Amino acid sequence: MARIGLDVTRTHRYVTHNSEESYRLGSQLGQRLPPGSVVCFFGDLGAGKTTMIKGLVEGAGVPSECRVTSPTYTYLNIYQGPIPVYHFDLYRLSGADEFLAMGFDEYFDAGGICCVEWSEKIDPVIDVSVIRVEIEHLSGDERKITINNLAPDEAPLL
Ligand SMILES: Nc1ncnc2c1ncn2[C@@H]1O[C@H](COP(=O)(O)OP(=O)(O)OP(=O)(O)O)[C@@H](O)[C@H]1O
Ligand SMILES: [Mg+2]
Repeated sequence: MARIGLDVTRTHRYVTHNSEESYRLGSQLGQRLPPGSVVCFFGDLGAGKTTMIKGLVEGAGVPSECRVTSPTYTYLNIYQGPIPVYHFDLYRLSGADEFLAMGFDEYFDAGGICCVEWSEKIDPVIDVSVIRVEIEHLSGDERKITINNLAPDEAPLL
């Protein structure tokens, strides 16, 4: 029978106790992602989305000198490495129309790894098959991190 939407067997759950652990989880994820991956990060302001993405960029092999943020685009930073990483922060975007008008959807098929913060803004252009990372603030520095839609039978990241 065809499966629709999220597959629970592809769900990984973690609790991190500080930002270094979240960075490391992001790094482990970055090491596994094939070119063409799209990863959407969900969580409140300050949840730790950017922290995980910084780790992911390192894990994807981007040299440290290429990890500086560039002011070329308001919503997009591009980190050049063996696999380029396209990091979107769409918090201030008006919606999917603006995203498409900027031609940003082309980056989803550009052979790099796309990381998207605040993808809620562009729901209509997000495919159900993307990897979803949900970060929930527990208490203090603890975060519950749920990763959906990794490839089946993937070993735990940590
Ligand atoms: N377990 C943890 N994981 C991630 N960050 C943590 C953790 N504990 C504390 N922090 C702190 O929380 C903050 C997370 O900030 P970060 O910029 O990563 O959040 P964000 O989700 O990207 O927010 P925004 O929506 O504003 O972009 C950092 O100051 C980080 O040091
Ligand atoms: Mg952020």
